[in-house]
Order: sequence, then C-alpha cells, then structure tokens
Amino acid sequence: MSTHIGANKGDIAETVLMPGDPLRAKFIAENYLDNVVQYSSVRNMFGFTGTYKGKRISVQGSGMGIPSLAIYTTELIKEYGVKTIYRVGSCGGMSPDVHMRDVILGQAGTTDSSIIENTFGPNMYYSPIADFGLLDSAYHTAEEMGINTKVGNIFAADRFYNDEIDIQKLIDYGVLATEMETSGLYLLAAKHHIRALTILTVSDHLLSGEAMSAKDRETSFDEMIRLALNTAVKNIEE
Ligand code: HPA
Repeated sequence: MSTHIGANKGDIAETVLMPGDPLRAKFIAENYLDNVVQYSSVRNMFGFTGTYKGKRISVQGSGMGIPSLAIYTTELIKEYGVKTIYRVGSCGGMSPDVHMRDVILGQAGTTDSSIIENTFGPNMYYSPIADFGLLDSAYHTAEEMGINTKVGNIFAADRFYNDEIDIQKLIDYGVLATEMETSGLYLLAAKHHIRALTILTVSDHLLSGEAMSAKDRETSFDEMIRLALNTAVKNIEE
C-alpha cells in the first residue's frame, strides 16, 4: 500500500474516475460498476475497482482542493501505474453563458494556487490543459448521448471562501466556472505524462446566486457520470 491508499499493486485499474467526495466514489461504484471490490478506506477516502461495459475502471475520492487531490493523484500514478484520470465533480458557474445543470468539459485550468509558481519559479505562467484526445472524445460522446456540454477554462480556487478575489475579471476573460482541483490535476498529468480530463456539472451560479435542487443535482450528476464512463471505455485499449 502507499501512504494514503490501502491497495496492493494491481488492485487499481489504469483508468480512474476521481470525484472529490469519497461518498460519491462509493455511489458511483455501487450504482454504475459491476464486479466491484473496495481497495481502500484509508482516512475514509474510499477507492473501488469494478467494470463498466466489461472494461476495468476504478473510482477514487480525491478530497477537496489541489493539495488533497495531488496526494491521491501522485500515489495513483507513481505507486499504482494509473494512466488516465477523469475528475468528476460539481462547480460554481461564473460565465453568463453557463447555466445550472450544464455539463462542462475543462479545456484548461486557471488557478490562484501557488502550485504553478512552486513548480516553475517566478515569471513563468504555465497553462495546465486537458488531454486533447480525451477532451475531443468526451465532447463527441456527449453529442452522441444527447448531453449538452460547454468547453472552456475552469478556475481552481485555492480558497472556497474568498471575498478578496476579482471574480468579474476572470469572467471577463472567459472563465466558465470554478471548483478547486482542475489546474492541479492537469499540471500533475503533464508532469507524469498521463492523460487527464475534468467533467463537471454546474451545481450553483456565482452571478445569479442560484443553487441546484436535489432532483436536478441527481439528474445532471447521472449525465456527468455516464459521460465520463462512456468516454473512459472508448479510451481503454485492450
Ligand atoms: N467554488 C468552489 N468550488 C465549488 C463551487 C464554488 O462556488 N461550487 C461547487 N464547487
């Protein structure tokens, strides 16, 4: 086992869906996968491996924020040989073009986290981006499934509660939505030469102050998970 994941080598599939919430990982495993085995419960950050349409897929909670996600992502890649990660989660809509229930594909990740500067030093503003193959595949899979997607820049906020940030400026520059992980995931994917894509549902909107009803949350969550899983099976070679 690695420091934070209680699995043996080989227990985790090369393709992983990564929700922030470990209870969502459990829900996905129990409701969408067959032949499910739980491989980790360390810190209640559950991880499961099962099959979807006959292909082996794991689901691992990441926790909230880049520091937590970076722990699980790094161990998945370095200790368990994971090659493809789909972050699935909720986000706050920022752009007026983004609406409640929309499914968003994260093309790139902006952040106010220091992880970029910690990696490259000052005056180098690296742009973490999605794997284009996965992005293209998810976009067309969504079309086939009749799911409406928006594609663009996602802001990974370092703080959920931050009244000092100029959100309007980010909106003016085309940022679609905010969550707390995508830039970190894409940076680590680039560092370790693996593929990553973030797929989000809009659960609340920063401009309108709307928040999703429990029913809408369930439906759009279902669309996002089925999109991630169908994209995943198309991109597993065997
Ligand atoms: N901010 C950060 N993360 C989020 C939000 C938000 O408004 N909504 C859902 N995840």
